[in-house]
Amino acid sequence: MGDLTTERSNPTGTAPVLVASNRGPVSFSTAEDGTLALRRGGGGLVSGLSAIGDPDAVWVCAALGDADRRAAREAPDGRLDRAGHDVGGQAVRMLDIDPETFARAYNGVANSTLWFVHHLLYATPTAPAFGAAFRTEWQAYTAYNAAFAEALAAEAAPGAAVLVQDYHLSLAPALLRAARPDLRIGHFSHTPWAPPEYFRLLPDDVAESVLTGILGADRAAFLTRRWALAFAECCAAVLGAEVDREALTVTHAGRTTRLGVHGLGADADFLRERAHRPDVEERLAALREAVGDRRTVVRVDRTELSKNIVRGFQAYRHLLRTRPEWHDRVVHIAFAYPSRTDLAEYRDYTARVRELAAEINTEFGTDSWQPLILHVNDDFPRSLAAYRLADVALVNPIRDGMNLVAKEVPVVSDRGCALVLSREAGAHAELGEDALSVNPYDVIATADALHTGLTMAADERADRTKRLAAAATALPPQQWFLDQLDALR
Ligand code: G6P
Repeated sequence: MGDLTTERSNPTGTAPVLVASNRGPVSFSTAEDGTLALRRGGGGLVSGLSAIGDPDAVWVCAALGDADRRAAREAPDGRLDRAGHDVGGQAVRMLDIDPETFARAYNGVANSTLWFVHHLLYATPTAPAFGAAFRTEWQAYTAYNAAFAEALAAEAAPGAAVLVQDYHLSLAPALLRAARPDLRIGHFSHTPWAPPEYFRLLPDDVAESVLTGILGADRAAFLTRRWALAFAECCAAVLGAEVDREALTVTHAGRTTRLGVHGLGADADFLRERAHRPDVEERLAALREAVGDRRTVVRVDRTELSKNIVRGFQAYRHLLRTRPEWHDRVVHIAFAYPSRTDLAEYRDYTARVRELAAEINTEFGTDSWQPLILHVNDDFPRSLAAYRLADVALVNPIRDGMNLVAKEVPVVSDRGCALVLSREAGAHAELGEDALSVNPYDVIATADALHTGLTMAADERADRTKRLAAAATALPPQQWFLDQLDALR
């Protein structure tokens, strides 16, 4: 790692706008002939950054696997664009962080600790237990954040705006400010934020560092007011910071950080066009064939512990057990795409999801009716086809920063779709009025909501879907990004 103080006296970068995130806009794999194959990702940040159309903007991200590392090493200063890769007209600096340090920071701290804290996922009688292994991971997390701060400090033009993303990078804002006080720094949390009594499961010094790390930004932004206020409450409880809940500011150690709320919406134009391409039509025909003239309950998730897929299946099972009129008249289409398979908890969870799906099919299935269709391989066009077909969409996370599936389904739905939505999803703040709200832990209430959705009159469903789609697209990704940039200026 270089010397941050050198950057302070001599800022040499030229980027007026920078984004930093763990996962970048591109990833690499090694093709059979040994060359690097590049894949471009999508999402809010990608379309957001494209909105400013500034060729000097730089995206700093981490190399996630071996092929990424090779690409980063072979590129001058990790700048993939300068190595001739087609990164979508964008400048991308990919950081080749030592694999062990990366794994400890990403799997150990970000995904097994901070993610668990913010989503309230611990079974507390046994976890967490912060011992020596955690301290090694925490050191790695600090080094990983320092590597980002160093790269950002090197790339940023004087006075540049830097948008740091998510819980992987909670220390980077303060580290960057120390190196480059001239910069305008924003931090954005895409997750929920834990309430103070749960946040304080973290060791005291770690809890303090996470908060003061983010307070190093000029502005700390969240997907809903609820998460912004939870962050403020943690600052008050842990740091004794002064909090203005109306103005949404946190003052600590003589500096004030503004809090912001930007509820990322669905990209209507993109979705509507994409959902009618031939590959989606083809998959829609196949799904229709499998479903016949039955009703559908659709869910699409990454297989995250927070997504609550198991209780969702239990609710569907309860529906079939208690309301036999639905036998042979409904199909649950569930897509549970792989996520974070390095973590044992995630692998176990995926196994439980598959097991329960098989149990439900054994309990109720007949020669001509498969009550639950589960797919675990990622297929975006098939997801869009299922969105179009859904009579009911089930989105029941334990807790979720936003949940874009809840916003995407109403936008592409062909005939209107009832949305069963957890009150613990960030999206509930905007969609709650026209959704069927559920307590995600209440399996019976969720089953009842599925029944209500399945029996909702067609015109009511269509009306609600129209309003849901309007609310879901109120802040498209490009505007979401530009608003944050404007607010920093
Ligand atoms: C979800 C969260 C984001 C997070 C991302 C990381 O999408 O909403 O807050 O950045 O997961 O996922 P990854 O696959 O990179 O671990």
